[in-house]
Amino acid sequence: MRTGSSSRTDGGPPDYQSIVRRIGSGVGHVGSEYALQDGDFRHIVKLVMDTAGIVLSEKTRAFIHGRLGRRLRILGLSDFAQYCRLLEGPEGEAERHNLINAITTNHTNFFREPHHFDYLSKTILPVLAEASSNGRRRLRIWSAGCSTGEEPYTIAMTLRDHRPSLTGWDVKILATDLDTNVVAHAAEGLYDADRIESIPPAHRKRFMNGRPDEPASMNEELRSLIMFAPLNLLESWPMRGPFDVIFCRNVVIYFDKPTQRRLFDRYADMLKPDGWLFVGHSESLLNVTDRFDLVGRTIYRRAR
Ligand SMILES: C[S@@+](CC[C@H](N)C(=O)[O-])C[C@H]1O[C@@H](n2cnc3c(N)ncnc32)[C@H](O)[C@@H]1O
Repeated sequence: MRTGSSSRTDGGPPDYQSIVRRIGSGVGHVGSEYALQDGDFRHIVKLVMDTAGIVLSEKTRAFIHGRLGRRLRILGLSDFAQYCRLLEGPEGEAERHNLINAITTNHTNFFREPHHFDYLSKTILPVLAEASSNGRRRLRIWSAGCSTGEEPYTIAMTLRDHRPSLTGWDVKILATDLDTNVVAHAAEGLYDADRIESIPPAHRKRFMNGRPDEPASMNEELRSLIMFAPLNLLESWPMRGPFDVIFCRNVVIYFDKPTQRRLFDRYADMLKPDGWLFVGHSESLLNVTDRFDLVGRTIYRRAR
């Protein structure tokens, strides 16, 4: 067995603070490989399922091995058994957090699945404008599983584009994700040139700051509409709602059906009557819940 560089040599969970201190000093098994035994893999699979609802199949084993091998190296641990003990130990909570951050799939893009933003501007905004023509129009949108922020910023650009001044509108977009690293990135709102290619040039000019050779940042016109926060969808939700629209796209694809059903039922309770739910291109509510009616391509409306 490889000798770990943890402060303990008795096989018990290493002290988390000492590990974190060593990260700073760069000590670790750089370039080394760790065997992932069946029992340790099953342990990690269960922990991820219980914590985040994410189902890790046998097919993901190599991916998990690679992603968590990096964690072992950073922490200076000798094997996955030691890592599992750390996760279960008294100081395991912080590492469970890092584990989830390491295994989440955060792929996203600006204007991903553009028909959703067309539907928002051409169908939803006119319906809401009509519904509250006498008073201030209240609009609440939730981007649940927002990753690095491309989705909520695209929603904000769509709103600003179609109701430029938003005069008479009270708009708030809540953007949440379980992965604290991506939420921090989203809140910072800085994107490299290759990340913003799918934003139309006119929008880039209007909504983004920065010189062409620098990372571009979202301007205040967009930021002022969005509130970012970390949130695990499986846990209790601090907000009361109700929302007019929920975007939960390419998130539940990793959940099993019972977890999906519970989540969609909670979304139905969180939406206004007739509120809309957008899901990802490979996701469907068919045979999952009857609380929604399909009204467009991967677009649902809360059933009455
Ligand atoms: C593939 S990204 C999708 C991003 C964006 N919605 C889109 O469609 O482009 C999936 C996101 O869901 C988040 N996620 C996974 N499980 C979650 C959970 N239990 N609670 C909150 N967010 C979760 C991941 O961290 C990840 O950022």
